[in-house]
Amino acid sequence: MRGYPRIIAHRGGGGLAPENSLEGIVLAARLGCRGVEFDVMLAADGVPLLIHDDTVDRTHAGRGHVARLTAAEIRRLDAGRRHHPAFTGCRTPTLDEALDACRDAGLWANVEIKPAAGQDVATGEAVGRAVAARGEWAGVLSSFSAEALAAAAQACPDAPRALLLEELSGHWTQRLHDTGAGALHLAAEIFTSGQASNIAKSLRDTPWACYTVNTPELADRLFALGCGAVFTDRPDRWPVSAM
Ligand code: G3P
Ligand code: MG
Repeated sequence: MRGYPRIIAHRGGGGLAPENSLEGIVLAARLGCRGVEFDVMLAADGVPLLIHDDTVDRTHAGRGHVARLTAAEIRRLDAGRRHHPAFTGCRTPTLDEALDACRDAGLWANVEIKPAAGQDVATGEAVGRAVAARGEWAGVLSSFSAEALAAAAQACPDAPRALLLEELSGHWTQRLHDTGAGALHLAAEIFTSGQASNIAKSLRDTPWACYTVNTPELADRLFALGCGAVFTDRPDRWPVSAM
C-alpha cells in the first residue's frame, strides 16, 4: 500500500501505553513502528485533541463530554493513570503536539477524524487546516464520516484520505467514490467469515488496510488476501524487521 508502513500502532501506542498519548507515540517509535494511528475530536473551544470516546469517562480521571469541555479543562485531567499508575501525569495531546511528536520520531501518521455528533464538518475542517499548515507531512487522514473527510479535503486537498468501514455493504464503492478517498480502512472482522477470499476479490484494485489486528498470524492471513497494512494494539509482537 503506497506510503503505508505494514504494521501501524493503533491509538498511538498500540495499547501498550495510554491510548492517544504522546507517551504512546514515543513508545511505538521505540518498538520500531514506522507509523501510528490516533483519533482526533474537537474540544468545546474547537481545539483538536487526541481522544477516542465522546466522553472522557473511560480514559481520564474525570467525567464529561469532550464537546462540552474546553481543551484546558480536558488537559487538566490525568489521562494516564487509568491505563496504569506508571503513566500517572499523562496529558491529552493537541493534534499539533502529536504531529510534532510524529515528525520528531520520523513516524508516518494516520489521523483518524472522530467527530462528535453534528461536528463532522467542523472536525474535518480543523484537522485539514492543522495538516495543511504543516506543509511537509507523511500520513493519511481517515474517518468513518464521509462529511468529515470531505471537509478535510476542502481544507487540505493534497492530503491522502481513507474511508473507514465496519462492514462492506453493497454501496461501499459509491461511498468510496463520493469521498474521493484512495484507500479503505476495514474492520478485520469482515474477513473472518468463510467468504474472506471472495470479499477480498471484490476489493480489486482498492488499497485496503485492517484494524485491529493483534497477532502476526491474522496479519499474515490478511496480507495474503491483499491487505496492505494492519493497525495493532500489540506492535511488540512483530520483529522490528517486519515493521
Ligand atoms: O482507524 C482504525 C481504527 O482506529 C478505527 O477504530 O474505534 O479504534 O478508532 P477505532
Ligand atoms: Mg481510531
